[in-house]
Amino acid sequence: MKSLALVIFGITSNLAQIKLIPVLYDMAEKDLLPENISVIGIARREMSKDEFQKYFHEVLNTENIHHKHPIKEDVFRKLCRRINYLSGNIDDPNFYPKLKEFLGNSNNRIYYLATYPELYHHIFENLQKNQMNKSPKGWVRLMIEKPIGNDLKSAQNLNQLLLNYFNEDQIYRLDHYLGKETLQNILTFRFANDIFEPLINKDYIDHIQITASEDFGIGRRGGYYDQVGALKDVGQNHQLQMLAFATMNAPSQFTNKAITHERIQILKNLIPLPDKVVYGQYEGYTKEKNVNPDSRTDTFYALKTYIESERFEDVPIYIRAGKKLKQTATEISIVFKKPVNKLFKKMPESSDEPNILIYRIQPNEGIVFKILTKIPGHKIMLEPEYMQYCYRLDPHTHYIPDPYERLIVDTINGDQTFFNDAREIEAQWTFIDPLFAEREKPRIYKVGSWGPKEADELLEADGRSWLEPSTEFCRI
Ligand code: BG6
Repeated sequence: MKSLALVIFGITSNLAQIKLIPVLYDMAEKDLLPENISVIGIARREMSKDEFQKYFHEVLNTENIHHKHPIKEDVFRKLCRRINYLSGNIDDPNFYPKLKEFLGNSNNRIYYLATYPELYHHIFENLQKNQMNKSPKGWVRLMIEKPIGNDLKSAQNLNQLLLNYFNEDQIYRLDHYLGKETLQNILTFRFANDIFEPLINKDYIDHIQITASEDFGIGRRGGYYDQVGALKDVGQNHQLQMLAFATMNAPSQFTNKAITHERIQILKNLIPLPDKVVYGQYEGYTKEKNVNPDSRTDTFYALKTYIESERFEDVPIYIRAGKKLKQTATEISIVFKKPVNKLFKKMPESSDEPNILIYRIQPNEGIVFKILTKIPGHKIMLEPEYMQYCYRLDPHTHYIPDPYERLIVDTINGDQTFFNDAREIEAQWTFIDPLFAEREKPRIYKVGSWGPKEADELLEADGRSWLEPSTEFCRI
């Protein structure tokens, strides 16, 4: 079997600490690391092999909301045989010959960029200069995180830069939401079961809501976040992908090309409505570490859009995301038109709530359908209940893989289905840019609220309201 080197540029970064190192451990525990893999961490700091292993161990044993299970020492020791460290400055051309020598004659290589975008061009140029962007006896793949650019122009430039050094089939642009089990299952739910699909259109749907709310703030990421804000941090990428999965047409085949094509069709046809965007900022944000005291960065946004297509003509889509809100929940709700309900209409105490199909991405992961049922008893009264498929209550005890785990496995296997291609990223920015151009000063909202009142008014103007993510379904 061919040897594989996984080179992580930025092994001491926040991303490496909260995601990549824990995922490498999980892969070792589940025996998902190929036999012949060698992981090479790169950072500036001088560290011996022993010190690096100690660093890995410390990271794994530090409290991490994304990785809560205990570390088994025997798994860690086995993993240690595969991890190596090389210190160096990524912007120093003299570093790359050293890296080349370190990699020896490994056939296949993955370069993971867990570092600042400002450094990318040094990496690409020097990999090429040292003939490391190709492998005569195998393949070379590049994993690159969002954000790809900061607007359409910079995304195009970065995509072009990438193509100067790599072919599209070597580039794995990673949006970790595409690796989420709960998102991928939307495709199965919709296209393996024909039962709901005929209803997913303007004849049956009243509107769609997408919420990604977090009850925590920006933590230690002030330096990054203050440059980006909520719309660009999660709206441009994760939430647009959620929308694409929930609304795309059935791909002709389960292939990268067909699935990506359908996702792009949705993204390309989104209508930007700059006067239907509300920006918010949580109280106290400007006092956070590494945040400009006069910052106008959005920590919340809410917007309305439409998909220009016959299928979803005039179906409003409302999207919101924010930090330090009331609750942490990510979900897509397909709200159906209210039933004419001829039979029960006149019963005074009965609910007349619409049916809602909810894809709960996290927490209480599941796919649930809100329906009206009869309240057991002597009277005929209706109440809403959930028909539910819940991951955590699944009797088959499947585990939900971390998205990074899945995406690293996919990269090793050369499967780009759940990665973004250049056109897709550019379609996302084409939608976002006009919204950002006319950005108003963010409205200040209370910590623990649902954002500024203007976000509520956005829906109230249409006779609708935001759905509060339910905590009633899929609880353990
Ligand atoms: C990241 C954003 O891409 O996604 C974060 O930079 C956000 O600000 C995170 O909190 C959300 O991801 P998840 O998987 O925790 O929902």
